[in-house]
Amino acid sequence: MSLEQLLAVIPPGSPDETLARQVNFDQLPAHIAIIMDGNGRWAAQRHLPRVEGHRAGIDSVRDVVETSARLGIDVLTLYAFSVENWKRPLAEVNTLMMLLKRYIRLELATLLTNNIQFRVIGRPEELAPDVQDELEIGIRKTAANTGMQFNIALNYGGRAEIVDAARRAMAAGVNPDDLDERRFGEFLYTAGQPDPDLLIRTSGEMRVSNFLLWQIAYSEIWVTETLWPDFRRRDLLEAVVAYQKRERRYGGIKSAKSAKTATAAESLP
Ligand code: FPP
Repeated sequence: MSLEQLLAVIPPGSPDETLARQVNFDQLPAHIAIIMDGNGRWAAQRHLPRVEGHRAGIDSVRDVVETSARLGIDVLTLYAFSVENWKRPLAEVNTLMMLLKRYIRLELATLLTNNIQFRVIGRPEELAPDVQDELEIGIRKTAANTGMQFNIALNYGGRAEIVDAARRAMAAGVNPDDLDERRFGEFLYTAGQPDPDLLIRTSGEMRVSNFLLWQIAYSEIWVTETLWPDFRRRDLLEAVVAYQKRERRYGGIKSAKSAKTATAAESLP
């Protein structure tokens, strides 16, 4: 949106304000994807059960959703539950699902006020019916919103998504000769959305953990040591400012010039 929208919620004179003023609003990442990690370690540091880390992580979710919307980010994707997360103790899985339901119920009004469209990517059909119902309510009630698209990746796996896309393409009767990267993208969960420009991972791990494998081909990756429950607006702004200092090359050469142009220019006297 704008600097003004952001400054409206930032205490004047705070480090957040300094960072907000460094953001170039003409070069925002269109899509930010986040691997929220470190909830368990955050809880362990406080001698609390792991689930308390997830509970505390909800405040970070709230802060990041609001900041992203105020910044003017088009798409925000948060990795909340992977297809591998079913291996966790049942009580932890149940708490995560309960937190998710509660989040949607409590935040729906805020999502509506901020014109945010809520979506789910993954295999939600394999979730418990009560969770599916709550998700459906959130999706349906925000469907007409035209602002930021907020994807929650739930029962999500990057490889599973590619398999699902291949199945959908086959079911749609796509001729293999007509299948290219653009057409294939239309069968992904994120069809119609830009690929993430910026992938953030908290808690210092250098892994992509089966997240958006197709879509992050050219994403800039920013890893912070901050554990997810401590991640706030300041960290997000820091990531955006760092992203804007990067030079994106998409496999090309340094600077926007083509190899041909660069050679010609270099040969000038
Ligand atoms: C990783 O930390 C975090 C998760 C598997 C779940 C993230 C979920 C939430 C923050 C709550 C629900 C989300 C929404 C969008 C409402 P970890 O448990 O792997 O941490 P560790 O690596 O320190 O053990």
